[in-house]
Amino acid sequence: MIGIFDSGIGGLTVVKSIMEQLPGYDITYFGDTARTPYGSKSSETVVGYALENTEFLLKKGAKIIVMACNTVSSVASDSVADNFNIPLFEVVTPATEKAVKSSGKLIIGIIGTRATVKSGIYEKKIKAIKPEAKVYSKACPLLVPLVEEGWLKKPETVMIIKKYLHPLKVRQIDTLILGCTHYPLLKDKIQRKIGKRVAVIDSSIAVAEKVKDFLETHTEVDNLLTKKGGFRLFVSDITEQFEKTARATLKRNIFLEHVKL
Ligand code: DGL
Repeated sequence: MIGIFDSGIGGLTVVKSIMEQLPGYDITYFGDTARTPYGSKSSETVVGYALENTEFLLKKGAKIIVMACNTVSSVASDSVADNFNIPLFEVVTPATEKAVKSSGKLIIGIIGTRATVKSGIYEKKIKAIKPEAKVYSKACPLLVPLVEEGWLKKPETVMIIKKYLHPLKVRQIDTLILGCTHYPLLKDKIQRKIGKRVAVIDSSIAVAEKVKDFLETHTEVDNLLTKKGGFRLFVSDITEQFEKTARATLKRNIFLEHVKL
């Protein structure tokens, strides 16, 4: 089974993309809804959570792990890789590679949580591939709670998006990375506000493509994965709002299982 975890239910955008790229693969998801958000916590705290979440999924039988959370991918992926010897995927590298490929002018914008932006990881990875690239980041802390409230189409949300994107727009970026699990749910609005000439890179799609490519070339790992279309969804806290958002994200009926880590 493929194990996927996130700080909450936003990582279901990654589940959705993986279900599209790899239909039928068994998936177990853990959303750390009791300890969310990670984006405003210290790196040490996020590393501790990421190690616990990985261990939980491995105990459930995961053979590969996808860290769907951009904050975890930014500050904790090296620590997880140091502690567990399994195929491990994070969302920053695939999105970075895709952005560099798509950007003609090499003027790239990134939006994410405060922790992701503070880590500077996207900038580091982009410059490792193209040192001449110009990279501009903007933390958008209000977007996660707005998505969790289901305010996807409210005028207030659109206004806030416009305000956050303004400094990137004036830099004339030609590519924008959605560096947070929740932002794909606002992709239409973000695209409209940043302009249709800007390529918007969805890290949930980029990581799903990466996992698919890996399994195609590593059949020994692919053979370990069960493919019965199973999906289990564990969360560390259950609320009505989480259930609603999870259902809206996946557009299917879901059953949340409660687990205490
Ligand atoms: N999952 C987080 C991310 O992608 C967003 C929510 C949070 O702050 O925990 O960065």
